[in-house]
Amino acid sequence: MTVLVTGAAGFIGSHVAQALLARGERVVGLDNLNAYYDPALKQARLAGLIGDTDRFHFVRGDFADPVTVAALPHIDRIVHLGAQAGVRHSIDAPRDYGHSNLVGHLEILELARTRGVRHLVYASSSSVYGDTAALPFSAEARADAPVSLYAASKKAGELLAESYAHLYRIPMTGLRFFTVYGPWGRPDMALWRFTTRVLAGEPLPIYNGGAMKRDFSYIDDIVAGVLAALDRPPADNGAAKPGGSLGPHALYNLGNDRPEPLLELVRLIGAACGREPVLELLPMQAGDVTATWADIGPARRDLGYDPQTPLAIGVPAFVDWYRGYTAG
Ligand SMILES: NC(=O)c1ccc[n+]([C@@H]2O[C@H](COP(=O)([O-])OP(=O)(O)OC[C@H]3O[C@@H](n4cnc5c(N)ncnc54)[C@H](O)[C@@H]3O)[C@@H](O)[C@H]2O)c1
Repeated sequence: MTVLVTGAAGFIGSHVAQALLARGERVVGLDNLNAYYDPALKQARLAGLIGDTDRFHFVRGDFADPVTVAALPHIDRIVHLGAQAGVRHSIDAPRDYGHSNLVGHLEILELARTRGVRHLVYASSSSVYGDTAALPFSAEARADAPVSLYAASKKAGELLAESYAHLYRIPMTGLRFFTVYGPWGRPDMALWRFTTRVLAGEPLPIYNGGAMKRDFSYIDDIVAGVLAALDRPPADNGAAKPGGSLGPHALYNLGNDRPEPLLELVRLIGAACGREPVLELLPMQAGDVTATWADIGPARRDLGYDPQTPLAIGVPAFVDWYRGYTAG
């Protein structure tokens, strides 16, 4: 069985590819190594995968390009993790989201249809819930008031997937990730940016005066959830799936079910760095939400998803990795 992993040089994609290889699967990795953040980090993630085994085949290319996608080798299943991520960048560069998250997502759906794949698992986001859904966020909530174009593009991806699951009966699972962090993480996310600043003795920009909560999810827990989902394609039996589809299309939250104040993240970074963080309190940023909290009941029940890693373990693990990576 061969699994296509899009975004294989990305944070979550590289971890998922590694876990699939570790359990003996063949993996085709697709990524265009774009410069949204330092491509050297993407290359370094890839080096770990390519160095490992001949069961990993990497294709550098754009999944919004139908010619690139049509030329991919044989695949049985898809884990679609490539995307233009980041809420704030979507305010400055909306077309990046149209390209990768709308056109690119459609090309991956077309690939699933033309190759008759057994299951397509794709990444969505907690941001689809906006700032008005009741906490904890449930996949049954309406989630149709996005506060950023990023969120709108992720919600659109779910709707495109639903139409393909309905028309072509392709089993699909959408995973709404909640603030994923850990070693080999993303430089545009708070944990990386704050760690850099704390170690440099620079002040941390704290939006909304710090009155924010996030359901932080450790990468190893998320990878376990992605593999569990991949192994359990939703049945095409007419029964309503999580998220409401009557086709073979399920939507799950993958979070930690443990929202933590942003200032607790800051405290743990300071402790792991051995330095007192200096705070610069700022107003709320456009596109941001004040709180996220995942209802993971359906993922526990259907996928056996069981996150294990509290922030107090995950933050020092990240800071250790970060120090090694940036030192060397
Ligand atoms: N990390 C999080 O906290 C988080 C939270 C919610 C949702 N997500 C979603 O999870 C997925 C993975 O996120 P990540 O944190 O690993 O992001 P990432 O930016 O590290 O990885 C995405 C990868 O996709 C590649 N890519 C983007 N557009 C492409 C294109 N058109 N063709 C080929 N490759 C392309 C990028 O080069 C990058 O390596 C994304 O769909 C993201 O929206 C992530």
